[in-house]
Amino acid sequence: MGRRQELEKRQTLLARFGRLVATENRLDALLTIIAEEVRNILDTDRCSVFLVDSYKGELWTKVALGMEEKILRMPMGQGIAGFVAKTGSAVNIRDAYRDTRFTQDLDRITGYQTRSVLAVPLKGRDGKVLGVFEVLNKNRGSFTDEDEGLLRILATMAASFIENASLYDDLRRSHLETIYRMALVAEFRDQKDTGKHLRRMSRFSGILASAMGMSYQESEDIRYASPLHDIGKVAIPDSILRKPEKLSAEEYEEMKRHTIYGSQMLVNAESRLLRLAARIAIAHHENFDGSGYPYALKGESIPIEARIVAAADVFDALISKRVYKGAWNLEDALAYIKSEGGKRFDPMVVERMAICFEDVVEAMEEENRRCVAEEQVSSLSPGLAGPAQPHLRS
Ligand SMILES: [Fe+2]
Ligand SMILES: [Fe+2]
Repeated sequence: MGRRQELEKRQTLLARFGRLVATENRLDALLTIIAEEVRNILDTDRCSVFLVDSYKGELWTKVALGMEEKILRMPMGQGIAGFVAKTGSAVNIRDAYRDTRFTQDLDRITGYQTRSVLAVPLKGRDGKVLGVFEVLNKNRGSFTDEDEGLLRILATMAASFIENASLYDDLRRSHLETIYRMALVAEFRDQKDTGKHLRRMSRFSGILASAMGMSYQESEDIRYASPLHDIGKVAIPDSILRKPEKLSAEEYEEMKRHTIYGSQMLVNAESRLLRLAARIAIAHHENFDGSGYPYALKGESIPIEARIVAAADVFDALISKRVYKGAWNLEDALAYIKSEGGKRFDPMVVERMAICFEDVVEAMEEENRRCVAEEQVSSLSPGLAGPAQPHLRS
């Protein structure tokens, strides 16, 4: 390729890079796009984007290991990327294995052989190093000053997008966490293993939603909104919510109102997730055959998200241990859900639950492991939850 053509190609790629990074605001996807585009523009074998985790004093990056992607972490200051992050200056070397700053750890893990390395810092608006762009093994020859200049331009362009995406990510995460903590508040008085139930039923709801053919975003929304299904219980008096004996007819009527209270708390929210949570809260005890409450809605007049969450919620309640019953095994719980298809539950949801059952089991095991780890941390403070109460009766 002639010099002129090469320049034109780079300009085209550069323009494309600008367009692509400007349209992505999820940090995860953004890093993948950046790495791929930079690799093309600089005609190199690999590009890694390292980000600084200033809280832990580490650098992290995503690497592809076979089919999987893994996050690798290293202490600041270690290796070429660590050196660049620490000093803020660029590094351009022909033979990595002869440079004392280079560590072979990453190569050992990935089975890759690094030869030439060009690394520049990614600086934020305030000049602080956010991370490092590292390109490896130039396809022809070694990296030139021109390559270094180009990588610096790309780093400047990428930095502000990375900064925005991490802010957006933080915001999204804290929004989701707040929603989850709100749900915990509602269930805290009611059950001991609140966290476990909420995590699992929310995972099941998400899996079921995607098995119903919903998009990734819709399924994620259902996953994160579903823990609020019983938020209305905060308005139910202790004398009812925590009553060990059977509820009187009047008390049961009040208990049923947690659906209405929940939707009143959430309705007309600005947040899309909270509006979805309102639809789930009001209808998660409606039955497909019209025998549920509060409005005895029937079939498809029950919002689909509530039909999904109803099955996931009851399934998890069945496989959980309660004071009034042992934990059912998974097959029995599934058999029960199936037997209620067309009656309590949407037959389509029931059918899909059977199909994605393996994913449900896998998610359950993963959430159980996570809860054990969390319990170990929280066991430092005495349990504040009251005695476990029947859940299914509501
Ligand atoms: Fe409920
Ligand atoms: Fe529940």
